[in-house]
Amino acid sequence: MRIAGFFAVSGLFVAASFAAPASAAPVAAELRVCAACHSFGAGEPNRLGPNLNGFCARPVGKAEGFAYSSGFKASTVKWNAASLDSFLENPRKAMPGTRMAAAPIGDPAKRTATIAALTEATGCKTLK
Ligand code: HEC
Repeated sequence: MRIAGFFAVSGLFVAASFAAPASAAPVAAELRVCAACHSFGAGEPNRLGPNLNGFCARPVGKAEGFAYSSGFKASTVKWNAASLDSFLENPRKAMPGTRMAAAPIGDPAKRTATIAALTEATGCKTLK
């Protein structure tokens, strides 16, 4: 019993230490506000918002294990530079019923910088 417990605990420790480098990755300044709710690296857990790793290559609202709002579930948006730009400009207007309670980013240059940093951090090289 004791020995089994020891192996279970050390197994968890190994899993945690494998995950450590990804979660320790520094977050770009543009994404600090997003990082309150999102993780960006492969295999990192969902937080208040979904993990965004590779989000641009999957249909909207499909992060594994994340319970999206009905607004997101009903959406057929494709994530690209234009749809992200209007989403970040006004999440609730672009995606009615969304639970993403992030402040709108009014400044177009700031949105462009945020999208560039997001593309980099999430491995979304295909963003158009
Ligand atoms: C207060 C928490 C919060 C903040 C801050 C936040 N988000 Fe979100 N985000 C969410 C939630 C929750 C969802 C899922 C929305 C839903 O289900 O309606 C989401 C969804 C998304 C999605 C769509 C993901 C998918 O799987 O289709 C993207 C892209 C995104 N957020 C980008 C950002 C960016 C970029 C920022 C920073 C500018 C940001 N978010 C800030 C909570 C947040």
